[in-house]
Amino acid sequence: MAAQSIALWLLTTTMALQAGTSWAQLSTGFYSSSCPGLYSAVKPVVQSAIDSEKRVGASIVRLFFHDCFVQGCDASLLLDDTATFQGEKMATPNNGSVRGFEVIDAAKSAVENVCPGVVSCADILAIAARDSVVILGGPSWDVKVGRRDSTTASFSGANNNIPPPTSGLANLTSLFAAQGLSQKDMVALSGAHTIGQARCTNFRDHIYNDTNVDGAFARTRQSGCPSTSGTGDNNLAPLDLQTPTVFENDYYKNLVSNMGLLHSDQELFNGGATDALVQSYVSSQSAFFADFVTGMIKMGDITPLTGSAGEIRKNCRRIN
Ligand code: HEM
Repeated sequence: MAAQSIALWLLTTTMALQAGTSWAQLSTGFYSSSCPGLYSAVKPVVQSAIDSEKRVGASIVRLFFHDCFVQGCDASLLLDDTATFQGEKMATPNNGSVRGFEVIDAAKSAVENVCPGVVSCADILAIAARDSVVILGGPSWDVKVGRRDSTTASFSGANNNIPPPTSGLANLTSLFAAQGLSQKDMVALSGAHTIGQARCTNFRDHIYNDTNVDGAFARTRQSGCPSTSGTGDNNLAPLDLQTPTVFENDYYKNLVSNMGLLHSDQELFNGGATDALVQSYVSSQSAFFADFVTGMIKMGDITPLTGSAGEIRKNCRRIN
């Protein structure tokens, strides 16, 4: 009996380890012998793009989020639509909104110059997202790599998995939970809204119709975002009203003053379960940075393709 139990335990443990293999393979040293020049190829490309336009750093961080939430961090978001292939770029959360693809193309070219055919677009995006955060003043971390690129994309996954800005706290929580991310990861990762811009169409309802918005702030944002749907939809406003090109904890300071730009932002501080976390990040930027790094690493671990799955794309926009 005891021997049977041990045998069963061994079997299930082995199966669990095998199932977990694809996760276990991401590591910080994956390219240390196959492409030692990887990091020094990517960083200057991201630096010069941000030097030309600071917002693009935010756009790259968002690309990583929108990639990882749809069939894992596999560069599915980077694939262009063709006559015979439907990608994710035209899905509602992405259409007219995601940007920064040219920077990933340029980083890929720089990497191909030093080690052709070795590094995935999914890993280049993960590294470029980290570099963007660092360049804009945020924390640094060692990026786990070893992902491979998808040969598929999911338009419906992009529509269904990426949270819309109209979400309430319960919906946000369940969409993050579906990716294996906790409420704490969600609140910390949302701190990425300390950088970047949003379009009027995504915050109009909040600044005109919600009651948990500071009055003066709402009036300021209304001046750049007409109340009529279809008018000024693409007008931009900063997600962090003070410093949209600096990565710090101002986002949370805005939330406790009812100055979150999106309905979903303000949901994180609206009398619910996440209020205390928001307060803790207001009090401690280092706590925010630490939890943001943990969240980015966890998000980067979402169902990667590893081993011989997928491919190493030659061009990030196309399947080989
Ligand atoms: C919690 C749920 C989230 C919702 C509902 C949400 C929604 C949005 C929306 C609506 C925009 C503006 C898009 C536009 O108007 O074109 C935006 C921008 C942005 N989001 Fe999120 N987001 C969420 C979480 C995240 C996470 C986890 C990250 C990264 C870790 C992130 C990073 C960004 C960045 C950096 C921008 C600015 C992009 C730019 O300026 O190009 N967001 N988000």
